Amino acid sequence: MLSEKAKSEIKTLMATYPDQRSAVMPALHLAQHEVGWLPDDVVQDIADLIGLSKTEVNGVATFYTMYAREKPGKHTIMFCADLPCALRGAEEMLEHLEHKLGCKAGQTSADGKITLKEAECLGGCDHAPVMLIDGVEHQQDLTNQKIDEIVERLQKS
Ligand code: FES
Repeated sequence: MLSEKAKSEIKTLMATYPDQRSAVMPALHLAQHEVGWLPDDVVQDIADLIGLSKTEVNGVATFYTMYAREKPGKHTIMFCADLPCALRGAEEMLEHLEHKLGCKAGQTSADGKITLKEAECLGGCDHAPVMLIDGVEHQQDLTNQKIDEIVERLQKS
């Protein structure tokens, strides 16, 4: 459930749009920043505030990959599967990473530590394959050994 502070901030946001329903995306951002992800009750809160159905808000939240409708792990790995990375072995490395984590892309490891997501180009094609950790740490020129070392470090943190 959203805090009263977040609800108030969403109402302020809504007032800046000619059609208050246009505030749905910034409202989702704000809610995700507060809660860490977008559980059902938060989606319902936003729908109630903005005047959309829960289904409509959910449609936006599930369309864009930046919104998390499932509780993420402590760490998130975005693994680039776009063509330049694929040409340098990313598909096989993603399989290796899935095996290492014991989960598929789009899922979270059983210990709740690491969420794995496939990504479009992460802007490091000249050092492909590439993955992005927790939105800030670029890891490039990946190898299976490097992936193992990174995963083991994240599992310990
Ligand atoms: Fe992978 Fe650009 S295609 S970083």
